[in-house]
Amino acid sequence: MEKSAILHLLEWHQNNGINSVLRDQPRNRLANDFANNLERLENPESPAKMTPQPILSTSASHDHPALACQTLEQLKQVMLAFEGCDLKQSAMNLVFSDGNPKGPVMLVGEAPGADEDRQGLPFVGQSGQLLDKVLKTVGLDRTNTYISNIIPWRPPGNRPPTTQEIAMCQPFIQRHIELVRPKILVFLGGVAAKTLLNSNEGIMRLRGIWRDYVTHDGSAIKALATFHPAYLLRSPGQKALMWQDFLKVEKALQEAEHRL
Ligand code: URA
Repeated sequence: MEKSAILHLLEWHQNNGINSVLRDQPRNRLANDFANNLERLENPESPAKMTPQPILSTSASHDHPALACQTLEQLKQVMLAFEGCDLKQSAMNLVFSDGNPKGPVMLVGEAPGADEDRQGLPFVGQSGQLLDKVLKTVGLDRTNTYISNIIPWRPPGNRPPTTQEIAMCQPFIQRHIELVRPKILVFLGGVAAKTLLNSNEGIMRLRGIWRDYVTHDGSAIKALATFHPAYLLRSPGQKALMWQDFLKVEKALQEAEHRL
């Protein structure tokens, strides 16, 4: 292949966010299915042989290692040792959390980006800077909020996490929330909101309405979904809506204080 063609191909990969190498040798994921389909075309009687796919039954979450964790440190150690999610292979760091676990508010985002992966901390890049600004307007910062993500390892090239990756990591964030037990949960963006509210609705419908997040022991935590700050970087016109959502959080915190 000519050098210019190789450079062109590399550029195409880069532009499409394929910028991480996961294995030394390429793997043709279509090979089995292609041979299988060819065989069936030539011999329509032959039964279809499916390429095995990772199957996540609901029972998979019953023996998930997150469930046994009794402290945040235990949870972190279990996640550091976890080998059930391929994202870990391409990520530099586990992004566990930032902020104060004793604070009244816990924020949950989607997945770390490049800056977060490098530093091992959530929301430290451009989205995080915008988030910090919004938090500041309602008297919040990382001394009185706690921040984590649905997915603790950076998806290569910042691609959205797959359904399987979300299902595999969901018990971690669920246990995380149960161990922190904040007064208020804020879900940042559609992935966090849909996953933790168990809904198929989009963020436009889910945001701005108080809901109950129900833990494994059946208790409820007040939860509010809002936009992901990365979306606001692309659509700054929506910032006022996110701010309105955080005003609701501020009001709920004030009401909770008065009740004490
Ligand atoms: N986006 C997220 O959802 N989480 C981060 O930690 C950073 C960016």
